[in-house]
Amino acid sequence: MDELLKWRSEFPILDRSTYLISNSLGAMPKAVYGAMRGYADSWAERGVRAWEEGWWDMAVGVGDLLAPLIGARSGEISLHQNVTLTQAVISSCFDFRGPRNKVVMVDLEFPSVQYFYHEQVRKGARVEIVPAADDVRLDLDKFLAAIDETTLLVPISLVLFRSSFIVNARAIIERAHRVGARVILDVFQGTGTIPIDVRDLGVDFAVGGVLKWLCGGPGVAYLYVREDLRSTLRPALTGWLAHQRPFSFETGPVERREDSFGFLNGTPHIPALYACKPGLEILNKVGIHPIREKSMRMTKRLYEGAKSHGWRVNTSANPAERAGTISIDCPNAAAVSRELLAREILIDYRPKAGVRISPHFYNSEEECDFALTQIADILNSGAWKKHSVESVSAA
Ligand SMILES: Cc1ncc(COP(=O)(O)O)c(C=O)c1O
Repeated sequence: MDELLKWRSEFPILDRSTYLISNSLGAMPKAVYGAMRGYADSWAERGVRAWEEGWWDMAVGVGDLLAPLIGARSGEISLHQNVTLTQAVISSCFDFRGPRNKVVMVDLEFPSVQYFYHEQVRKGARVEIVPAADDVRLDLDKFLAAIDETTLLVPISLVLFRSSFIVNARAIIERAHRVGARVILDVFQGTGTIPIDVRDLGVDFAVGGVLKWLCGGPGVAYLYVREDLRSTLRPALTGWLAHQRPFSFETGPVERREDSFGFLNGTPHIPALYACKPGLEILNKVGIHPIREKSMRMTKRLYEGAKSHGWRVNTSANPAERAGTISIDCPNAAAVSRELLAREILIDYRPKAGVRISPHFYNSEEECDFALTQIADILNSGAWKKHSVESVSAA
C-alpha cells in the first residue's frame, strides 16, 4: 500500500488528468481556494489595517514554511517574485568593476539566469560559460577549473532543468570558497523532491521558486543568504521594506535592516504569498525523505520502461544522480508530447531533453506505466503525425 496516495484527494486536477508535470507546475492543492478567500477577506474586511495585521511580514514570515525543506532556519529566507529577480538582488551586492569580476556558469544553466548575467557585462562582468559534458551532465572537472581567483559569482543549479542531473554542489562550493568566490545555488528543481541542507553545504546563497515540486503556484521565489553574509552584504536593488523604519518615510539613503528584510525592496506580492502556503504546508507534512524514496522508485520504472522500448533517455542512468524527472527522447518527441497532452496526460517537451515526465508523491506507479504505454501507442499508431513540428511550441 502506497501511503502517500492518500494525499491525492487534496489535488483536484489528479481526478481529471494524468498529472506528470510537477517539474513545471505542481498540482494546485484544493486548500488554495480557502487561502485566496483568506486574502480577499483580509483585504475586504480589514482594509489598510491588513498591512500591520500580517501582510507586511509575509515576505519573510512565509519563508519559514520553506526553510525546513532546504535545511534553513526560521527567518533566514526572503521571498521575491521570481528567481531571476533573486539573482538581481544578489548580484547588486557586488561590484563587477574590479579584477574579481568573473561569473562562471554551465551552458545547461536555466536560460533566464544566463540572460541576466550576460547583461551584467555592461557593468564590468566577465561571463564564462562552461560547456556541459553532454545534454545530461555537468563536466565537473572543467567547471571547477573555470573557478579561479578572478571569479566573483558562481550561479549553478543543484538539479539541471533539462536533464534532472544532480550536480556535485559540495565540490563546487569547496572550490569557490578556496579561491574567494561566492556560490548561488539554484535549488528550484531540487526542493520538494530531493533532500537539501543549505547550512550543511555552507553555500553562500540558495534560490528557487515554489511553483514546481512545492505546489505553491507562480509568483513566489525564495532567497536564502548565509548567516554571516546577511548582515554585511548591501543590495543596491533595495527599497523601503529593507529600511529599519519604513513608516518614518525618511529621505536619503536606506538604513538597512541586517536580517532577511534587508534583501527585500518594494511592496510584496501578497496574493501569491497567500496562494503558496497550502502547498508548503502539505510538503512539510509529507516529508522529503518519503518523497525522495518514492520518486526514485517511479523514475527507475520510467527509465527502465523507456529503455525497454528502445527510446533514448536524456537523464542519468545512475539513480543517485537524477532528481524527479525522466526526459524521454523518443522519435518525434515534440509531436508525441502534443498528442499526450491531447490525451490528458500532462507532461512537457524541451529541445535536447525530449518528453519530460515528472511524477510526484501524489502520482501512482500505474500512472507512470500509463504514460509509457500511451507513448508507445502514439508512435505505433502514427497518432503523432496529427501534430506537425511547426505547431509545437517550446513553451
Ligand atoms: C533551475 C531553474 N531556475 C530558474 C527557473 C525559472 O526562473 P524564474 O523564476 O526567474 O522564472 C526555472 C524554471 O522555471 C528553473 O528550472
